[in-house]
Amino acid sequence: MKKLILILFASALLCEGIQAASFEPVWGRDGMLVTSVGPAAWAGQQVLENGGNAVDAAIATAFAAGVAHPFSSGLGGGMFAVVHDASDGSNTTLDARETAPAAATAEFYVKNPDSIRSGARSVAVPGLVQGAWALHQKYGSMPWKDLLEPAIKMASEGYRVEIWHHNVVKRVAERLKENPETQRTQTVDGMAPPLGWNHVQEDLAETLRWIQKKGEKALAVGPIAEKIAKATDNAVTELDLARYKVKWREPIRGSYRDYEIISMPPPSSGGVLLVQMLNILSRHDLGSMNHGSSEYVHLLASTMKMAFEDRAENFGDSDFYDVPVERLISMKYADQQAARFNPNGQVKARADHPQVPDDDGTTHISVIDKNGNAIAITQTINTLFGSKITVPGTGIVLNNEMDDFSIGPELANAWGATGSMANAVAPGKRPLSSMTPTIVLRDGSPVMVIGSPMGTLIITTVLQTLINVIDFEFDAQRAVNAARFHHQWKPDRLTIEPEFPIEVRERLQALGYELREFSIIGAAELAVFDPEACMFWGGADGRRDSKAAPVNISKVARPSETVQCIGTRRNTAEAVPD
Ligand code: GLY
Repeated sequence: MKKLILILFASALLCEGIQAASFEPVWGRDGMLVTSVGPAAWAGQQVLENGGNAVDAAIATAFAAGVAHPFSSGLGGGMFAVVHDASDGSNTTLDARETAPAAATAEFYVKNPDSIRSGARSVAVPGLVQGAWALHQKYGSMPWKDLLEPAIKMASEGYRVEIWHHNVVKRVAERLKENPETQRTQTVDGMAPPLGWNHVQEDLAETLRWIQKKGEKALAVGPIAEKIAKATDNAVTELDLARYKVKWREPIRGSYRDYEIISMPPPSSGGVLLVQMLNILSRHDLGSMNHGSSEYVHLLASTMKMAFEDRAENFGDSDFYDVPVERLISMKYADQQAARFNPNGQVKARADHPQVPDDDGTTHISVIDKNGNAIAITQTINTLFGSKITVPGTGIVLNNEMDDFSIGPELANAWGATGSMANAVAPGKRPLSSMTPTIVLRDGSPVMVIGSPMGTLIITTVLQTLINVIDFEFDAQRAVNAARFHHQWKPDRLTIEPEFPIEVRERLQALGYELREFSIIGAAELAVFDPEACMFWGGADGRRDSKAAPVNISKVARPSETVQCIGTRRNTAEAVPD
């Protein structure tokens, strides 16, 4: 196995890859935080600099992200987290996914399919605050109230609107007109806040102060719960909010080359599909292929198609439906699937099943701290501004996560994904997700933390980025930048980023692919730890407003200085690049 250190220093010389953008990876000596919400990165960075651990930092960033990108995550949504605890080497996952209200029925949405994507009936019971609280109870080392401070500061004092924020709100401003409270709090007289605008969200600041004081139950009981029920015409009742519970779940585990993959189990499809695809691809020497060539794209796209066929047939909330996880991630199944690959044409469908949208309401945070604790959080309100409903007087934008359920084999959700009865609406059930927060271990310690926003495209984004590091030895930034593609079985199209050259497109078309171009696919947020150099690296995705925030507590490296390096002691002078 080639050494990770080579990946980090010399990758640009080793492989020819297609690049969406070109930047150097960010380095740090004492930790790394990478997020798709750049303006929120400082929150967690400050926590790490003040001695907090990775989980503290991720919680602070998660709350700040809901303020800075209120269109992509926040208090009215949910989250998944994958955590590695360095003190005992354990790995676990937290499911704070939104759930269907008690009165929700499949029949209602079959009769009223439009109501599942926006408005009161699209709202599932939020879990984000309880999720953050549960993480803090189990792993937190700093006071809860301190972790809310950065978000409160941003909401009450305001922050400068940058180009990403401006463009996103501009795209949906027209649609916000039907929701006066969202229009009032998120636009300037119905228009996107202009560049440089100081965006203050005073109601949201007040709600965050309430959460700071009341903790776990702040949104579940009391005046805010009443307001949420009212804003949804009781589609989400106070009882639904009071009964919401997070769940700790065993992670999905896989191995790929010399690495161990720790990822999110159902109700996400992300971890299982990621491991399924890596199992199949482990039979090929990807590193010897030409990155971005038609042969490479065809092999990966065929693998994606087979995995997404399983997603459509087999996946739902495992508390309600017996998802055959063990069979799907077994090497025996990978053998069967790998045999279906046709180098000269398309994988044949096992059975027939039935447009990825241009907006998205998900964010990701990857953190590793100096002690080797790691956390990947992906949080969501589903599509931009979720249900489009803001709870009056609270600044809380409510999710439209009900749309991640399947309401019929021919009725695709906002991400173009279809499903079976496994993912049908039922009271208290969690809708199927594609979020893939993932930690990669080597010799039991985290060497990569990764995840992405963007619905079904998340899973294939994470897959390609990991392969870019493990098989192609790209550095963290180059792995994130490299042009991506996506196939999800149905619709039967290969989505590619614009960088793919005409010859590759023509060869893919000759292999039977219908091509569609997307300006961006996903946003991989990659934090890397190199145990040999005792260095942290960050690859933030320039496709979005992302940022890699390094932690350098000791500002100057002295030749004689040694630091504890997650299990080994190394001389820091060796580790600092010039
Ligand atoms: N709402 C996007 C997902 O959970 O996959």
